[in-house]
Amino acid sequence: MFFKRRLGAYVGGIFGFYCKEPRSLRDIKTGLKRLVYRGYDGSGAAYLEGGVLKVVKRPGHVDGLELPDVYVAAALGHTRYASRGRVTLENTHPLLDCGRRIAVVVDGVIDGYEALRDELAAAGHKFTSTTDAEVVAHLLEGADPAALAERLSGMFSFAALTADGRLFAVQRGQPLVVAVSGSCSYISSDIASLYGFAEEAYLLPEGAYVELEPGGFKVRPAEGGQQPERKRVKELLYAEKAGFPHFMLKEIYEVPEALLRTKAALMEKYLRLASMIVQGAKNVYVIGNGTSLHAGMVSSYYFADVGTPVDVISAAEFPHYALENVGTGTVILAISQSGETSDVIRSIRAARRQGAVIIGVTNSVSSRLAIESNVYLPITAGPEMAVPATKTFTSTLETLLILAYYVGLHTGKRSQADLKALAERIDGLARALAGSMQSLDKAAEGLADRLAARGAIYVAGSGIVYPVALEGALKLKEAALLHAEGIQLGELLHGPLALASRGLLVAVLRPTDKSAADLYNKALKIASERGADVLTVGPGGDMPAVEADRELAPISYAVSLQLLAYRTGVKVGAPIDTPPGLVKAVTV
Ligand code: F6R
Repeated sequence: MFFKRRLGAYVGGIFGFYCKEPRSLRDIKTGLKRLVYRGYDGSGAAYLEGGVLKVVKRPGHVDGLELPDVYVAAALGHTRYASRGRVTLENTHPLLDCGRRIAVVVDGVIDGYEALRDELAAAGHKFTSTTDAEVVAHLLEGADPAALAERLSGMFSFAALTADGRLFAVQRGQPLVVAVSGSCSYISSDIASLYGFAEEAYLLPEGAYVELEPGGFKVRPAEGGQQPERKRVKELLYAEKAGFPHFMLKEIYEVPEALLRTKAALMEKYLRLASMIVQGAKNVYVIGNGTSLHAGMVSSYYFADVGTPVDVISAAEFPHYALENVGTGTVILAISQSGETSDVIRSIRAARRQGAVIIGVTNSVSSRLAIESNVYLPITAGPEMAVPATKTFTSTLETLLILAYYVGLHTGKRSQADLKALAERIDGLARALAGSMQSLDKAAEGLADRLAARGAIYVAGSGIVYPVALEGALKLKEAALLHAEGIQLGELLHGPLALASRGLLVAVLRPTDKSAADLYNKALKIASERGADVLTVGPGGDMPAVEADRELAPISYAVSLQLLAYRTGVKVGAPIDTPPGLVKAVTV
């Protein structure tokens, strides 16, 4: 599947319906709440009431959006991430044209909109916002939407509701799905949001134009004739908090079942194919950002153990520093839970142009990473709504470990019996985690005060759990908004301890390699002597972790650190699921 390649940024969620019988406008909010991971800087809806196009909107999280208790046939909502224009009421979508007859919502970024805006303003159009989206509303006055899309560049999708009862949308690089159920049709930025509204949905191909009708839709496909792809809508359970105060906590508690699902869902034929590709590669780069990069760093130990060294590099750095080593025979193992992170997409496209083969590891089977990879491994952790990634991290680690074992079958470092034993060990870990989750959580709660009171936190780890220390520090930043830094255990003695007497807390992960025991004991002793507040993490530690062997310890330790970050976030009153300035898929 090849699309016209464009790079850009996305952000925002679109949700709309068109029905024969009027339905509650408040259903728009239900849809938008499920899309809140795409942005929470503003939300709003446009709807038709008595032939009049009305708009309700407000800056901030969709939770605060109060929609009137009215029944309408057509409505279109949006949740915004402020990529162009500040967080204000004026910049919140929907945006209107001059005659207030066209309401537009946009997901993504329209490149070069400033020039279009100047041109339109010179022609007499009145702008009320500083967004790129408003340009679309004004351009639509009198223009054919499908043709208009060709005038715009960037990576975006937009949808519009008009006073004369048209609801249409254009997909130009940002995901859009449409669905029909009974006498209603729907449009949304993702499939999961449609749960309970429709049973199957159609993924629009890039370049498609769609016109919704009450209970139907018409698609004008992209050049090249690519047709919408049909998918089942499922798994809303994941998109509800189910009694948990935050998605993050719920998703940590889901780690054990996600581990079991990941293992069950990974298909042998794709693992075989991916492992053959890795094993036959001239060189392998593992790329990802943030949490996915940390998973990639852990995987370098897994791959080294089976005799296949890999280079791990941030997807933000890769196109600038690694491309000269990329050619035929290069394999890129690209990790992205969302599958939409632009650093990753930009990297795989550049690598592919130079002849590399791409293996994607992602939680989103309809993502660009999945679509553009030569082969992809779905981690099947279930939708993750909290911005701080948790169960997707642990399921990604598991996927990479299993893949490494398949590589090991080729290199002779692993046998079928090892593979079987690994499956049993994963089951055992999942069971142990499920059985200990509440006591781990209690322990984290008991420590939260200690962390919340600190101005600076180091999370120190050695060997295979060093990347988990980085991940633990990242979780503390996101979920608890505390300054935290992950560091290699031995490096603690080479500078950071200068802060020891200044309120420093060091969370030290017990190493999994026996050879590092001395280093661990020495670091604990010196850090305490210098006056740092030292907290141990691992089985039997101040912050306990479920006992696990060296390969599975990163998963076990990650859960303990996730809980610690979560409980600290609760203590400091941080907006845990929606850290300021972040969205689930960073494409800006
Ligand atoms: C961490 C987090 C980010 C993401 C990073 C990559 O909790 O959410 O660091 O891990 O933005 O995202 P994906 O994996 O979607 O490419």
